[in-house]
Amino acid sequence: MKLDGIRACVFDAYGTLFNVHAPVGKVAAALGDKADAVSKMWRDKQLQYTWLRSLMGAHSDFRVVTADALDYALDANGVSDAELRAKLLDLYMTLDAYPDARRCLESLKQKGLTTAILSNGSPEMLEAATRSAGLDTHLDHVLSVETVGIYKPDSRVYQLAVDEIGIPAQEMMFVSMNAWDASGAANFGFKVARLDRLDMPPDNLPGDIAATIKTLDEVPQLIG
Ligand code: 2OP
Repeated sequence: MKLDGIRACVFDAYGTLFNVHAPVGKVAAALGDKADAVSKMWRDKQLQYTWLRSLMGAHSDFRVVTADALDYALDANGVSDAELRAKLLDLYMTLDAYPDARRCLESLKQKGLTTAILSNGSPEMLEAATRSAGLDTHLDHVLSVETVGIYKPDSRVYQLAVDEIGIPAQEMMFVSMNAWDASGAANFGFKVARLDRLDMPPDNLPGDIAATIKTLDEVPQLIG
Protein backbone atom coordinates (compact mmCIF):
# COMPACT_ATOMS: atom_id res chain seq x y z
CA MET A 1 0.00 0.00 0.00
CA LYS A 2 1.20 3.52 -0.88
CA LEU A 3 -0.06 6.88 0.29
CA ASP A 4 0.08 9.45 -2.50
CA GLY A 5 0.93 13.13 -2.29
CA ILE A 6 2.86 12.99 1.01
CA ARG A 7 5.47 15.77 1.35
CA ALA A 8 6.23 15.63 5.06
CA CYS A 9 6.31 13.07 7.83
CA VAL A 10 5.41 14.12 11.38
CA PHE A 11 6.25 11.85 14.31
CA ASP A 12 4.98 11.58 17.81
CA ALA A 13 7.99 11.41 20.15
CA TYR A 14 7.33 9.49 23.36
CA GLY A 15 6.56 5.84 22.72
CA THR A 16 7.04 6.26 18.96
CA LEU A 17 10.66 7.41 18.48
CA PHE A 18 11.73 7.12 22.14
CA ASN A 19 11.31 4.23 24.54
CA VAL A 20 9.54 5.63 27.61
CA HIS A 21 10.27 2.46 29.57
CA ALA A 22 14.05 2.79 29.18
CA PRO A 23 14.57 4.84 32.40
CA VAL A 24 13.00 2.25 34.71
CA GLY A 25 14.80 -0.48 32.74
CA LYS A 26 18.11 1.16 33.67
CA VAL A 27 17.36 1.17 37.40
CA ALA A 28 15.29 -2.01 37.45
CA ALA A 29 17.49 -3.63 40.10
CA ALA A 30 16.60 -0.86 42.58
CA LEU A 31 12.87 -1.44 42.03
CA GLY A 32 12.95 -5.24 42.00
CA ASP A 33 9.63 -6.85 41.13
CA LYS A 34 7.89 -3.43 41.19
CA ALA A 35 9.82 -2.18 38.13
CA ASP A 36 7.25 -3.00 35.45
CA ALA A 37 4.31 -1.75 37.53
CA VAL A 38 6.08 1.55 38.28
CA SER A 39 7.02 2.12 34.64
CA LYS A 40 3.53 1.35 33.34
CA MET A 41 1.79 3.46 35.99
CA TRP A 42 4.23 6.32 35.40
CA ARG A 43 3.33 6.41 31.70
CA ASP A 44 -0.40 5.90 32.24
CA LYS A 45 -0.60 8.69 34.84
CA GLN A 46 1.56 11.00 32.73
CA LEU A 47 -0.89 10.73 29.83
CA GLN A 48 -3.96 10.99 32.08
CA TYR A 49 -2.55 14.16 33.64
CA THR A 50 -2.08 15.72 30.17
CA TRP A 51 -5.71 15.03 29.27
CA LEU A 52 -7.05 16.11 32.66
CA ARG A 53 -5.01 19.32 32.79
CA SER A 54 -6.22 20.17 29.28
CA LEU A 55 -9.85 19.64 30.34
CA MET A 56 -9.28 21.68 33.52
CA GLY A 57 -7.63 24.52 31.60
CA ALA A 58 -4.68 24.12 33.99
CA HIS A 59 -1.68 23.57 31.75
CA SER A 60 1.78 22.80 33.13
CA ASP A 61 4.62 21.69 30.93
CA PHE A 62 5.48 18.03 30.31
CA ARG A 63 8.40 18.12 32.73
CA VAL A 64 6.04 18.98 35.59
CA VAL A 65 3.46 16.42 34.48
CA THR A 66 6.15 13.75 34.13
CA ALA A 67 7.46 14.43 37.65
CA ASP A 68 3.92 14.47 39.12
CA ALA A 69 3.13 11.16 37.43
CA LEU A 70 6.36 9.58 38.67
CA ASP A 71 5.60 10.72 42.22
CA TYR A 72 2.19 9.09 41.99
CA ALA A 73 3.61 5.83 40.58
CA LEU A 74 6.33 5.60 43.24
CA ASP A 75 3.88 6.43 46.01
CA ALA A 76 1.27 3.93 44.77
CA ASN A 77 3.94 1.22 44.70
CA GLY A 78 5.28 2.04 48.16
CA VAL A 79 8.64 3.39 46.93
CA SER A 80 10.18 6.35 48.75
CA ASP A 81 13.66 7.10 47.40
CA ALA A 82 14.57 10.70 46.50
CA GLU A 83 17.80 9.69 44.77
CA LEU A 84 16.04 7.12 42.59
CA ARG A 85 13.33 9.68 41.74
CA ALA A 86 15.93 12.22 40.65
CA LYS A 87 17.79 9.59 38.61
CA LEU A 88 14.61 8.52 36.79
CA LEU A 89 13.71 12.11 35.91
CA ASP A 90 17.26 12.67 34.67
CA LEU A 91 17.10 9.55 32.51
CA TYR A 92 13.79 10.74 31.05
CA MET A 93 15.61 13.71 29.49
CA THR A 94 17.83 11.45 27.38
CA LEU A 95 15.59 8.52 26.48
CA ASP A 96 16.86 5.76 24.23
CA ALA A 97 15.55 6.01 20.68
CA TYR A 98 14.19 2.81 19.11
CA PRO A 99 16.73 1.50 16.56
CA ASP A 100 14.25 1.89 13.68
CA ALA A 101 13.78 5.61 14.44
CA ARG A 102 17.11 6.75 13.03
CA ARG A 103 16.91 4.38 10.04
CA CYS A 104 13.45 5.70 9.21
CA LEU A 105 14.40 9.38 9.49
CA GLU A 106 17.57 8.87 7.40
CA SER A 107 15.60 7.13 4.69
CA LEU A 108 12.92 9.85 4.61
CA LYS A 109 15.56 12.57 4.30
CA GLN A 110 17.17 10.63 1.41
CA LYS A 111 13.76 10.60 -0.28
CA GLY A 112 13.63 14.40 0.08
CA LEU A 113 10.79 14.52 2.59
CA THR A 114 10.37 17.08 5.35
CA THR A 115 10.63 15.45 8.78
CA ALA A 116 9.23 16.68 12.10
CA ILE A 117 8.38 15.80 15.66
CA LEU A 118 5.09 17.04 17.12
CA SER A 119 5.06 16.21 20.80
CA ASN A 120 3.68 16.88 24.24
CA GLY A 121 7.30 17.23 25.39
CA SER A 122 8.64 20.63 26.40
CA PRO A 123 11.21 22.21 24.06
CA GLU A 124 14.04 21.43 26.53
CA MET A 125 13.02 17.78 26.83
CA LEU A 126 12.74 17.34 23.07
CA GLU A 127 16.02 19.10 22.44
CA ALA A 128 17.87 16.93 24.96
CA ALA A 129 16.29 13.68 23.74
CA THR A 130 16.80 14.27 20.01
CA ARG A 131 20.38 15.43 20.56
CA SER A 132 21.42 12.56 22.84
CA ALA A 133 19.87 9.99 20.50
CA GLY A 134 21.51 11.60 17.45
CA LEU A 135 18.15 12.21 15.74
CA ASP A 136 18.42 16.01 15.69
CA THR A 137 20.36 16.14 12.42
CA HIS A 138 17.60 14.22 10.61
CA LEU A 139 14.73 16.45 11.77
CA ASP A 140 13.64 19.65 10.02
CA HIS A 141 11.21 20.68 12.80
CA VAL A 142 10.88 19.79 16.48
CA LEU A 143 7.50 21.14 17.57
CA SER A 144 6.29 21.26 21.16
CA VAL A 145 2.75 21.75 22.48
CA GLU A 146 4.21 24.51 24.67
CA THR A 147 3.69 26.87 21.71
CA VAL A 148 -0.09 26.45 22.10
CA GLY A 149 -0.26 25.63 25.84
CA ILE A 150 -2.52 22.59 25.60
CA TYR A 151 -1.90 18.87 25.10
CA LYS A 152 -2.80 16.38 22.38
CA PRO A 153 -5.35 15.53 21.10
CA ASP A 154 -6.55 19.17 21.09
CA SER A 155 -6.79 20.26 17.45
CA ARG A 156 -4.66 23.35 18.16
CA VAL A 157 -1.69 21.03 18.61
CA TYR A 158 -2.14 19.37 15.22
CA GLN A 159 -2.79 22.78 13.61
CA LEU A 160 0.61 23.88 14.94
CA ALA A 161 2.29 21.36 12.62
CA VAL A 162 0.36 22.68 9.62
CA ASP A 163 1.23 26.29 10.50
CA GLU A 164 4.91 25.69 11.26
CA ILE A 165 5.67 23.24 8.45
CA GLY A 166 3.52 25.12 5.95
CA ILE A 167 2.07 22.04 4.24
CA PRO A 168 -1.65 21.06 4.29
CA ALA A 169 -2.55 18.27 6.73
CA GLN A 170 -3.65 15.88 3.97
CA GLU A 171 -0.17 16.11 2.43
CA MET A 172 1.52 15.08 5.69
CA MET A 173 1.84 11.63 7.17
CA PHE A 174 1.51 11.49 10.95
CA VAL A 175 3.02 8.50 12.74
CA SER A 176 2.20 7.56 16.33
CA MET A 177 2.46 4.50 18.54
CA ASN A 178 -0.14 6.10 20.83
CA ALA A 179 -3.41 4.86 19.33
CA TRP A 180 -5.42 7.79 20.77
CA ASP A 181 -2.94 10.26 19.22
CA ALA A 182 -3.19 8.44 15.89
CA SER A 183 -6.97 8.83 16.07
CA GLY A 184 -6.69 12.50 17.06
CA ALA A 185 -4.36 13.26 14.17
CA ALA A 186 -6.54 11.36 11.68
CA ASN A 187 -9.65 13.13 12.94
CA PHE A 188 -7.83 16.43 12.40
CA GLY A 189 -7.03 15.55 8.78
CA PHE A 190 -3.55 14.01 8.60
CA LYS A 191 -2.87 10.78 6.73
CA VAL A 192 -2.03 8.57 9.69
CA ALA A 193 0.12 5.50 10.07
CA ARG A 194 -0.53 3.88 13.45
CA LEU A 195 2.58 2.20 14.75
CA ASP A 196 1.62 -1.07 16.41
CA ARG A 197 4.76 -2.52 17.98
CA LEU A 198 2.79 -4.44 20.62
CA ASP A 199 0.01 -6.01 18.55
CA MET A 200 -2.79 -3.92 20.02
CA PRO A 201 -6.13 -3.03 18.42
CA PRO A 202 -6.84 0.54 17.26
CA ASP A 203 -8.73 2.83 19.62
CA ASN A 204 -12.48 3.17 19.11
CA LEU A 205 -12.30 6.90 18.48
CA PRO A 206 -13.09 9.19 15.54
CA GLY A 207 -10.54 9.42 12.72
CA ASP A 208 -9.80 7.00 9.86
CA ILE A 209 -6.35 5.43 10.19
CA ALA A 210 -4.74 5.14 6.72
CA ALA A 211 -2.26 2.39 7.59
CA THR A 212 -1.14 0.20 10.50
CA ILE A 213 2.56 -0.62 10.62
CA LYS A 214 4.68 -2.83 12.86
CA THR A 215 7.97 -0.93 12.66
CA LEU A 216 9.12 2.54 11.58
CA ASP A 217 11.06 0.86 8.75
CA GLU A 218 7.72 0.59 6.94
CA VAL A 219 7.18 4.37 6.86
CA PRO A 220 9.39 5.20 3.84
CA GLN A 221 7.83 2.31 1.89
CA LEU A 222 4.35 3.76 2.45
CA ILE A 223 5.20 6.98 0.67
CA GLY A 224 4.48 6.80 -3.08
C1 2OP B 1 4.04 12.72 22.69
O1 2OP B 1 3.37 13.71 22.39
C2 2OP B 1 1.89 11.59 23.26
O2 2OP B 1 3.72 11.44 24.67
C3 2OP B 1 3.36 11.56 23.39
O3 2OP B 1 5.25 12.64 22.40
